[in-house]
Amino acid sequence: MIVKNIKKIHIETYGCQMNISDSEIVASILTSNGYTYTEDVLSADIIFVNTCSIRENAEDRVRKRLQYFKSLRKKRPELLIGLLGCMADRTKTALMEEEQLLDLVAGPDSYRHLPQLLEQVGTGRKAIDTILSVDETYADITPVRLDSNGVSAFISIMRGCENYCSYCVVPSTRGQERSRGAASIVRETRDLFDKGYREVTLLGQNVNSYSWKTGDEVITFATLLGRVAAVNPLMRIRFATSHPKDISDELLHTISGTPNLCKAIHLPVQSGSNHMLDLMNRKYTREDYMERISAIRKIIPGCAITTDIIAGFCDETEADHQDTLSLMQWVGYDSAFMFKYSERPQTLAADTMTDNVPEEIKDRRLREIIDLQQQLSLANNKTEVGRIYEILVEGKSKRSDNQYFGRNSQNKVAVFTKTETGPGEYVTVKITGATSATLLGEVV
Ligand code: SAH
Ligand code: SF4
Ligand code: F3S
Repeated sequence: MIVKNIKKIHIETYGCQMNISDSEIVASILTSNGYTYTEDVLSADIIFVNTCSIRENAEDRVRKRLQYFKSLRKKRPELLIGLLGCMADRTKTALMEEEQLLDLVAGPDSYRHLPQLLEQVGTGRKAIDTILSVDETYADITPVRLDSNGVSAFISIMRGCENYCSYCVVPSTRGQERSRGAASIVRETRDLFDKGYREVTLLGQNVNSYSWKTGDEVITFATLLGRVAAVNPLMRIRFATSHPKDISDELLHTISGTPNLCKAIHLPVQSGSNHMLDLMNRKYTREDYMERISAIRKIIPGCAITTDIIAGFCDETEADHQDTLSLMQWVGYDSAFMFKYSERPQTLAADTMTDNVPEEIKDRRLREIIDLQQQLSLANNKTEVGRIYEILVEGKSKRSDNQYFGRNSQNKVAVFTKTETGPGEYVTVKITGATSATLLGEVV
């Protein structure tokens, strides 16, 4: 059997945290089926690229990388190349047939079939499986942690999305929303704790709508968080992403009352203009959003708030853009991911709206948003000077071997002089300085 000779796999991951988590599931499935994982792409027999479709430039990056792998295959014809993830369904025909780039394509819900798909490839046939599922959550699979610091890990708690934000490709690439059983999430958290991990991030496109039924009981996200936090008080729990339309007071009270639930909420706003929010199908108004921010500030004092913003969505006027800037200022975000709108096929916006903000205006607006956020981040971080935080040490700082870095509960990175307390342990650090991206401190 040819397949038995194909041993070493490598996975390169693009896109969001969910994809990082998925690559760990893929590694687990394949290493349980006779393959080994290699960190070194050049020594792999099979290279998988786990792809992202969220913006055009995300796809472009993957295509370029595939061209490079194609050049590797010229030198080593036996090299196999597989495409996984969100681009799978959308680009399978073009990439596989026209450009002769791929041997295998598997969508986000097809990873259990990878061993069979690889066997099919081993017999000389190309293999494609991009069918989306309504119930696959990979709940029983223990991920193989790739590129891990041994301290923090991702746990996927939901898959898919049904919010249909008009700009967003995710509902079409990842299908129906489904939750993973609570018991398996708690089990995975406990297992990670036993292996020395001290921080998990629970992942879903909209974690607030987590829902799992066992018998008569319906477990909500707040209940789940409580159970995961109860695994051990030394295990920090984070989560992403919350949708502003349904982040409840119940959840905020749970976070506030549980020390190891991190005081950091990522609440993507996308735009500060009601007209844009309506066109984006976000299902909340600027006022609703502000009310939720006020609730966070009141119920969880000292909570960090971060966001995602899109510049230059369809029909966006200068006044809409100013609304975004003024809302950013009002919230005073600790940090933000900021993007230029990129039209995606198979979205409501692509089908029914016009991508009519000229590129140079999008660029300028994005620049203004980034510049403002830079100021807000710096101003926020400056107020941290003098404060004392528990920092979970993650590893050596990139800048110096004499320094460690870690995070506080608010998810801010702090750098400080090394002590005997190493990665996976908590240290008390007094903040002595700040840039817009990092806090500097000393162990007290
Ligand atoms: N489920 C999460 C994140 C989804 S993707 C949420 O709802 O917040 C991450 C971010 O990418 C989004 O929050 C949005 O800001 C951005 N994004 C999504 N589609 C985009 C597009 N077509 N163009 C530009 N940015 C986009
Ligand atoms: Fe996309 Fe909206 Fe779903 Fe987030 S909530 S993944 S932005 S459709
Ligand atoms: Fe990209 Fe898919 Fe994540 S499109 S952002 S990898 S869900």
